[in-house]
Amino acid sequence: MVAEAIIRTIDLNCWFGALTVLKDINLEIYKNEIFGIIGPANSGKTTFLRALNRLNYLNISYQQTGEIFLGEQNIRTLSDNILRKKIGIIFALPQVLPVSIYNNVAYGPKVHGFTGKDTLSQIVETALKKAYLWEEVKDRLSEPAARLSGGQQQRLCIARTLAVEPQVILYDEPCSGLDPISTAKVEDTMQQLKENYTQILVTNNTKQAGRVSERCGFFLMGELVEIGQTPVLFTKPRDKRTDDYISGRFG
Ligand SMILES: Nc1ncnc2c1ncn2[C@@H]1O[C@H](COP(=O)(O)OP(=O)(O)OP(=O)(O)O)[C@@H](O)[C@H]1O
Ligand SMILES: [Mg+2]
Repeated sequence: MVAEAIIRTIDLNCWFGALTVLKDINLEIYKNEIFGIIGPANSGKTTFLRALNRLNYLNISYQQTGEIFLGEQNIRTLSDNILRKKIGIIFALPQVLPVSIYNNVAYGPKVHGFTGKDTLSQIVETALKKAYLWEEVKDRLSEPAARLSGGQQQRLCIARTLAVEPQVILYDEPCSGLDPISTAKVEDTMQQLKENYTQILVTNNTKQAGRVSERCGFFLMGELVEIGQTPVLFTKPRDKRTDDYISGRFG
């Protein structure tokens, strides 16, 4: 069976001012896989992720060439609003809104036009269940989200993203501020979401990429050095630079 690509970048090049940050990135990410992106600091991992939902353009020195497809659609044809609904992002530090747990999740659907109280409550409950947070928060939905633990806040951010029914979820080092137990819960959540979503995980933690991702790409100084099935990339990399990184010789 041929895997179906849901994200496809063609000759993607990115710059911040005069600095070339990504060079000729050609990458296909398949539907419902967890794709890991690993590489040392400044290799362009975050920039790649943010190129997918056009967040880099918030910086006026940013320029980009090449094409990005979501399914059959060139993302140029999608408005920022629609693109970011279809491709959600989870950042390193949980970015909860300074409102209640309930309203954090209801925010996106409201922006996208859902208004009925019953409909919204249903969406909030479903999203919290999918993010494996419902049991922990169902009796305190009106409390400020800031009262949750870091790991719960991160799963709340996942629920908030899920509430607008994305196709793809991007994670930029989502566990870097979390303890091992919270990290395990976020990783479990990712595994459970596999059935219905495509997920791209940027991580500095090669062990995490090994645990969670099915395929992995190694970025180095703006170049996509190697892509492979995660167990193969980790044990029999083709490129010496990948081998050096994986075996901890740099990065
Ligand atoms: N807003 C920005 N303005 C100017 N340069 C930037 C900006 N964001 C990133 N860069 C530069 O782009 C390069 C790649 O950065 P990026 O954040 O994509 O790397 P990364 O692989 O995610 O690194 P890390 O592992 O530290 O998060 C770096 O040299 C960085 O300094
Ligand atoms: Mg980064």
